[in-house]
Parts: sequence; C-alpha cells; structure tokens
Amino acid sequence: MKKYSVAILGATGMVGQHYIKMLYNHPWFKVTALTGKESVGKKYVEAVRGEAPAPPKEIAEMEVLPTDPKKVDADFVFSCLPTEAARESEPLFAKAGIPVFSDAAAYRMEEDVPLIVPEINPDHLNLVKQQRKNRGWDGYIVTTPNCTTVGLVLPLHPLHINFGIKRVIVTTMQAVSGAGYPGVASLSIMGNIIPYISGEEKKVETETAKIFGRLHDNHLHYDDVEVFATCTRVPTLDGHMESIYVETEKKITPETVTQALEEYVSVPQELNLPTAPSKPIIVRKEPDRPQTRIDVDAGSVPGMAVTVGRIRVEDNRARFISLSHNLIRGAAGGTILTAELAHHMGLLEE
Ligand SMILES: NC(=O)c1ccc[n+]([C@@H]2O[C@H](COP(=O)([O-])OP(=O)(O)OC[C@H]3O[C@@H](n4cnc5c(N)ncnc54)[C@H](OP(=O)(O)O)[C@@H]3O)[C@@H](O)[C@H]2O)c1
Repeated sequence: MKKYSVAILGATGMVGQHYIKMLYNHPWFKVTALTGKESVGKKYVEAVRGEAPAPPKEIAEMEVLPTDPKKVDADFVFSCLPTEAARESEPLFAKAGIPVFSDAAAYRMEEDVPLIVPEINPDHLNLVKQQRKNRGWDGYIVTTPNCTTVGLVLPLHPLHINFGIKRVIVTTMQAVSGAGYPGVASLSIMGNIIPYISGEEKKVETETAKIFGRLHDNHLHYDDVEVFATCTRVPTLDGHMESIYVETEKKITPETVTQALEEYVSVPQELNLPTAPSKPIIVRKEPDRPQTRIDVDAGSVPGMAVTVGRIRVEDNRARFISLSHNLIRGAAGGTILTAELAHHMGLLEE
C-alpha cells in the first residue's frame, strides 16, 4: 500500500515531538518534512525543544524547513503551529492543494471547518466539501479541539447518547505542557495553582456545542448543551484532569452511567484504525483513581484513552473525574486518528 508523505508544521514544539514519536513506523503515513520558525536551517535534533526523547536517526538529521507550501513536499500536513502562525500559514497550504490537519485554535470555530473528535462526529468531516467550494481551495483545513475540550466531550458523549445531557459544570486541573514550551514560568507554577488560563473556558464551552452539533444540508446546527467551565493550571507535567458535573434528561444510576462509559466504542474502533484505542474510555473503580502519574498513558495505544473514575450519581445528576493526555489524545494522537479517518473516507485521495 502507498504511504502518504506527511509534513509536520511546528515540529520542534511539545506537540510536534509527539507527532514524530507516534508517526514512526505508522503503517500509512511517513514523515518527509519538518517546519518551524526560529529553528529553520538547523538539524531537527539540534532544534527540538524541552525534554524530548531522542528522535529516530532519520528524523534527527532532517533539516527544519520554513513553514511555506513552496518549500514543503507532502501529500498532507499536520499543523501544530501557534494560533497566529496557523492563521497565516494554514490557508496557504490549503490553497496550494495540501490538506491541513490542525491542533491550532485559529480556524476551529469557522462554520465550514470541521472540529473533529473521531469517535463523536466523524460525519462532520464531510464539511470539507463545502469548505473547498466556499473558499475555492483544492486542499482544506480540519481541526482538533482544544486539549481540555477533548477530555470533557469523550466521556460526555456516551452519556449524551444514552441519557441526554442538559447541563455540564467542569473544573479543570491542567498540566504545564498544555502551554507549550517553555510554557508557564517555573517560579509561577511550582508549589502553586493558577486559577486562570486565558481564553480557555470559552473554548471549552463553545467547542463542545459544535462537536455535538448535527450536520444537515452541509450546515452545522450546534447542540444546545449548556457548559460552564473553570480552567486552572496545576504543577503536573502532562495530563489534564477534570472534575465534571452533569445533569441528564433521563434517569441515571451509578450502574447505568458506568456501563455506558465502559461499553462505549465508535467508528474508529469499528474500523480498527491504527491509532484507535480499543477502548476510548477506561473506567477505574478504585476511590483514588485516576491519578495523573499512573493513568496519563492509559489505553491500548498509550495516551489515547481517557480514564474516568469517582463516579457518583444522585437522581439525574452525575459527578466524576476524567484524565486525558493533552499532547496525545488532546493533540497529536487525536489528530493522527482524524487523518486516518479522512483516509478511510477517501478525503486524502481527492
Ligand atoms: N501543548 C498542548 O498540550 C496542546 C494541546 C492541544 C493543542 N495545542 C496547540 O498546538 C499548537 C502547538 O503547541 P505546542 O505546545 O507544541 O507549542 P510550542 O511547544 O510552543 O511549539 C511551537 C512550534 O511552532 C513553531 N513556530 C512558532 N512560531 C512560528 C511561526 N511564526 N511560523 C512557523 N512556525 C512557528 C516553533 O518552531 P521554532 O522552534 O522553529 O520556532 C515550534 O516548532 C498550538 O496552537 C497549541 O495551542 C497544544
């Protein structure tokens, strides 16, 4: 089978490093180009930021290229650029006929841009046809939600399908790697919790309504679920923990909630996509799980499962904790899974 050549835009950062790791030996995709800004012209191994694991030899020796479609030879790209750089560069790639799968916030909420969690709204990928028509592009942009949104909507989805969700209140405890490298200054975060992350709460609230929305006649109708978020930064390295309160339309019990979460599988599992975890949600019954250090890499594909625990139910109200890997399920891994789905739907061939 043909392997698709893939470029990573913003490859030297925290998310970029996880693309390198997850795409090494990928059965369908092969990394052929890496881009950046400050590190252009350097070898990848000399440019990579933070405490990165050693990249494979052929990647380590690659030269970092400018983020310019004329300099990059690839069938499609993964973009982990900062928001403003993504706003500028992603349309240039799409216009040049190169599909863009992006972790950046720049285009997530545009009407004709799919915002995908592959288990929840795979059908929204069909929006790219409308996007190409609207914008006259041969390529397109597909986005992955904010990492905090992903850790919320995955466990909400089976509850929404089975019991109908009316209202959600969530308080997050987000790891420092969520802010990229070098992220939050060590003097600000060590031994501390910061109860504010600029722009994060609005992203979680609006993205959830879009992801649960229904696609009808090439138009997305947002879900009317109410979400109230409080986002905090805590001194953990990787993994966003979320304390979630949900009100449902139908009656629930601890058993029905646990069963809905445990039995949840969807399109990526049915298609057996290479990066799909066999169980997207793992339920822990111990009273003190999930824990960030122990559970952040959960899943048959490490870091791709969300771990849920501390399920408590009264009448039609449930409370639980979720933990997800912000750089894997919330970024590189989630977006690779979306590209695998796009391949299955024939969207990489057009
Ligand atoms: N960190 C997370 O948990 C997470 C989760 C979900 C989504 N995201 C999103 O993913 C994106 C990347 O996040 P990150 O944490 O990996 O950030 P990061 O560690 O700061 O890395 C940023 C990368 O972008 C490159 N870059 C910066 N400015 C550029 C420009 N003007 N033109 C081209 N390349 C440029 C940098 O290259 P040089 O080194 O060459 O300058 C670097 O490779 C952001 O949009 C972020 O919001 C992050």
